[in-house]
Amino acid sequence: MFLTHLECTSCGLHHEWSGLQNLCTTCQKPLFPVYDLAAVGHALSREVLAQREKSLWRYREVLPLPAEVEPISLGEGGTPLLRSARFGSEIGVSNLWIKDEAQNPTQSFKARGMAVAVSMAKHLGATKLAVPTAGNAGGALAAYAARAGIEAHIFMPRDTPRANIIECRELGANVVLIDGLITDCGAEIARRKAAEGWFDMSTLKEPYRVEGKKTLGYELAEQLDWVLPDVILYPTGGGTGLIGMWKAFDEMEALGWIGSARPRMFSVQASGCAPIVRAFEAGEASAVEFSNAHTCASGLRVPKAVGDFLMLKILRESKGGAIAVDDEEMIRITREVGLAEGLFVAPEGAACFVALRKLLDAKIFAPGERIVIFNTGSGIKYLDCYE
Ligand SMILES: Cc1ncc(COP(=O)(O)O)c(C=O)c1O
Ligand SMILES: [Zn+2]
Repeated sequence: MFLTHLECTSCGLHHEWSGLQNLCTTCQKPLFPVYDLAAVGHALSREVLAQREKSLWRYREVLPLPAEVEPISLGEGGTPLLRSARFGSEIGVSNLWIKDEAQNPTQSFKARGMAVAVSMAKHLGATKLAVPTAGNAGGALAAYAARAGIEAHIFMPRDTPRANIIECRELGANVVLIDGLITDCGAEIARRKAAEGWFDMSTLKEPYRVEGKKTLGYELAEQLDWVLPDVILYPTGGGTGLIGMWKAFDEMEALGWIGSARPRMFSVQASGCAPIVRAFEAGEASAVEFSNAHTCASGLRVPKAVGDFLMLKILRESKGGAIAVDDEEMIRITREVGLAEGLFVAPEGAACFVALRKLLDAKIFAPGERIVIFNTGSGIKYLDCYE
């Protein structure tokens, strides 16, 4: 067990990890788990790692769950990094890769965060979990809570894709549909959680979903033989995957597993909800709430994110950027990607392929650069968008 404490990402205040925690108790910003990486370095090497099971739990030493506690698992992580030869060559990119997160339990990368966060919540004594969700996080919470034998209360916008709503119900969760956005769902949980005894599992408002998501960064490094790609395109809502990967890169450098080079990180958002793109372009350190948010890529319909300042810092530090794409473009490119690669990608993943094309047109990339796109979910959950 190498977790030492939780540290505020804004004011630096330390918090105990041994009780259920949400945001920093003084400044209300996200907390990051901190590990004794010197000790991890003695216990774990890249060579030992290579012999372990194909699951995110292979990175156990840099995950928060005590070694003797059995994780709540459905086989998450260990997804393929696929060479995109055909789509890549069609658009003139010779070194394009797709991390296919649709191959996780509940068909999205949300499984990573929830596997770790539900494991910790159960270990720390929570019995009722609540989450506001754009869709996929709800399905993942419902699945892991069911497996853990604890209650899940899921708050979703009424117009969340039907598959997500039905999935949560069939996994036995208590589903509440809200006439509003994910931010309204979060506000409703905040209002009721004390009286109901719910632990708030909102992304980055509890400290461990980001730890599950950071394994995207560990896997990517391992799959690319410990050399990070030049560019990452990530469909950004709450930004937990982006923030988590950046944390993973720093941890891996401290462990001596990678060097100091970092990919240029690009946030891809929908034109109908692009708070990070706006803030990035305006040179702001945080993002104002995006009004009238709308997009069929429901995971990108996050008008205000608690980790906005962290994302903006990463995009700038990495010399990356932020770009918005239209829904019609996402829907149109889905079939192109499907035909070229054999993947029915989620609209959020499709957005990254559109963004790639736009960034290529703008001559943002040098020839031969290694580019990784995250397909964060499956198109099968979004049939409403294709009818
Ligand atoms: C398929 C999909 N992609 C991307 C996102 C955005 O993820 P993040 O909150 O890590 O930015 C979501 C969030 O709901 C999602 O469901
Ligand atoms: Zn703080």
